[in-house]
Amino acid sequence: MSPLFRPAPSARTRLLAVFGAPVRHSASPAMHNAALQELALDWTYVACPVAPDHLAAAMEGARCMGFAGINLTVPHKQLAVPLMDVLDASAEAYGAVNTVVFEAEDAEGMWRPVGQLRDPSGSVRARGYNTDAEALVRSLSEDLAVELRAARILLLGAGGAARAAALRLADEGVGALWLVNRTEDKARALAAEIEARSPVTEVRVGYPEGDVEVVLNATSLGLRPEDPLPLDPAAFALGRADGVYDMVYRPAETPLLRAARTAGCRTANGLGMLLYQGAAALELWTGRPAPVPTMRRALEAELYGAAT
Ligand code: ATR
Repeated sequence: MSPLFRPAPSARTRLLAVFGAPVRHSASPAMHNAALQELALDWTYVACPVAPDHLAAAMEGARCMGFAGINLTVPHKQLAVPLMDVLDASAEAYGAVNTVVFEAEDAEGMWRPVGQLRDPSGSVRARGYNTDAEALVRSLSEDLAVELRAARILLLGAGGAARAAALRLADEGVGALWLVNRTEDKARALAAEIEARSPVTEVRVGYPEGDVEVVLNATSLGLRPEDPLPLDPAAFALGRADGVYDMVYRPAETPLLRAARTAGCRTANGLGMLLYQGAAALELWTGRPAPVPTMRRALEAELYGAAT
């Protein structure tokens, strides 16, 4: 398919951005601009390097400059929570914001996304969402064909991404969750949080003795070629898992996923999670269904150099 002609930004172009530090390698501009082009919207999406100390100022700037929305990536997701005027239940539940929708009042006085108003005016407020956790659940079921209800899951990590995953998986009714983290105290704190919240999910800190349906890597290990595996193969042989999911998506096959494939497990990397969090954000900003296949192709081309 030949690329459609896309006009240069004009005075009417709506603006979106991702804020992060670092943000240079973000694949979100490629994914969202491909989608905006497919939807024939005169919108553009850029990546802005924003230091944590400047997050409040940058957010205020975007609000004042008429941006339709913002994505937040490392290290801003938790820092952004107190900066929101309104928190969606998703952001409240996971204590992290990855998508900001700027809203203004329509003619009837209803708050609507700025991007869906013809001529937004008056005061603008920021509503924070978390589309990451839902995206993980969707990717696990679509890319790894996992039935999460009553599933046994070994979760590696206890940072921000692992916490959102654990809480969302507990809400999904997984049967048992084993938490393994370098800093064991963090795994214990997360286990206590899940126990207090979920009556159906059994939580343990440490490796399971039996088999599991899924091993889920939510640590950052695997991003660099010299990283060790995020689990101890002597404590847990990968052949005891049906499927292995790595939230890391660059490289396409991390050492964990290679070892899992060799052990005969089904495998998936975090591209699906990146894709579905982006698709949900785009729908919140534009009110239009996200062109998911186009967004997936754009991500694959950007991340792995695959032909579009
Ligand atoms: P994110 O928001 O992406 O989850 P984070 O909150 O900093 O980022 O969490 C990073 C996770 O990767 C944590 O589980 C961290 O382990 P610690 O809690 O012990 O810090 C894990 N991690 C990062 N580098 C690691 C390493 N070299 N070895 C083992 N675990 C590591």
